Amino acid sequence: MTASGTVHDPAFDPELVDVEMHVVPPTAPVTGVVTANELCLRGKSASFIRHVCIDVGGTPLEGRFRAGQSFGVVPKGVDEHGKPHKVRLYSIASPTRGEDGEGRILSTTCKRLIDEYRPQTERDEDRTGLFHGVCSNQVCDLSPGDEVLVTGPAGKRFVLPAKPENHDYLFLATGTGIAPFRGMILELLEGRSAPCESEIHLVMGAPYTSDLLYHDVFRSLADKHPGFHYHTVISRETMPDGRPQGYIHHYLDRETRLHADLLSRDRTLLYICGLAGMQTGVFQTMARLGVGGAYLKIHEELADVAPADWKAADIKRRVRPTHRCMLEVY
Ligand code: FAD
Ligand code: A2P
Repeated sequence: MTASGTVHDPAFDPELVDVEMHVVPPTAPVTGVVTANELCLRGKSASFIRHVCIDVGGTPLEGRFRAGQSFGVVPKGVDEHGKPHKVRLYSIASPTRGEDGEGRILSTTCKRLIDEYRPQTERDEDRTGLFHGVCSNQVCDLSPGDEVLVTGPAGKRFVLPAKPENHDYLFLATGTGIAPFRGMILELLEGRSAPCESEIHLVMGAPYTSDLLYHDVFRSLADKHPGFHYHTVISRETMPDGRPQGYIHHYLDRETRLHADLLSRDRTLLYICGLAGMQTGVFQTMARLGVGGAYLKIHEELADVAPADWKAADIKRRVRPTHRCMLEVY
């Protein structure tokens, strides 16, 4: 037994599906038409996050994307060098059949990048004022009927396996990282001829209760499907005993059924999506609890280092997800 626990056995790896990628490349985007754009937060929140639906019917993207993949948006206008803006990626929040059931309408969960301006490099001017991200604000401003340039799909591994019922699932999300999981969970539970009867756990991390995304969708899926379990971890709110709820990895540590049972099974797949850096705490916690081995390949230089002492840079270079762990952070 190493710091990571049991060893990865490829016999339990998922059978991968063939996915199509880049059927619409960034050099030749196609035009989608917005069909809906709604706030998807639960009331008053410091964030602005919208569920945006785009009709790609009649373009090469129609019917060619899968839940979990991303698509690209090419923003209008030019950058500070006068060059056309580069494409930005957004996770597809719909199941493979789309929002319409026919693979024509895809959706995403777009967060406006709005912040106090902060210089990012030594060359950047030092000024006060707001910083507005280019693409996220354009996407959030779109109205039904508006046209938008799209590309994709992108992403090969961050999809459901070919035989979903052969596996149980732990989905870990922070913020808009919930987007691909909305699509995947709708697909598992409502997208096929019969609901997938696997055990499925979704853990969603948000700053405040008002920041939970698609909360009503997940609550009603959990009411309807006994195998689906929806957990929330609200970092700036407390538990009934007054202790902070913490981050998703603190929750994973507290919830014995998630680590000692779910993650310890040979059939479980782990998907992680959201804030860059969220994997640090998750990987350290899994290794400390002895359930990392099946999901993580840890370089021998780290094998004798206590997981709590792993640095983010070590994790980036020396901890690689196995085929049982799908990671998408940005
Ligand atoms: P930009 O105009 O590109 O600005 C961002 C840049 O501005 C940063 O790189 C940084 O250098 C700089 N900057 C940031 N903050 C400040 C500041 N305060 N002051 C000064 N400069 C600053 N986003 C979603 O909302 N939903 C999704 O589902 C989603 N999925 C993604 C999936 C993938 C695979 C990837 C890679 C990214 C995903 N993103 C998603 C992020 C998305 O692609 C964009 O990066 C995001 O929307 C910001 O783009 P923007 O054009 O608005 O910002
Ligand atoms: P906090 O902001 O309290 O530090 P959003 O994208 O809507 O801001 O939500 C991201 C959520 O993830 C917040 O609850 C945030 O907590 C939390 N978070 C921030 N950093 C990490 C991290 N390294 N690991 C896990 N969760 C994190």
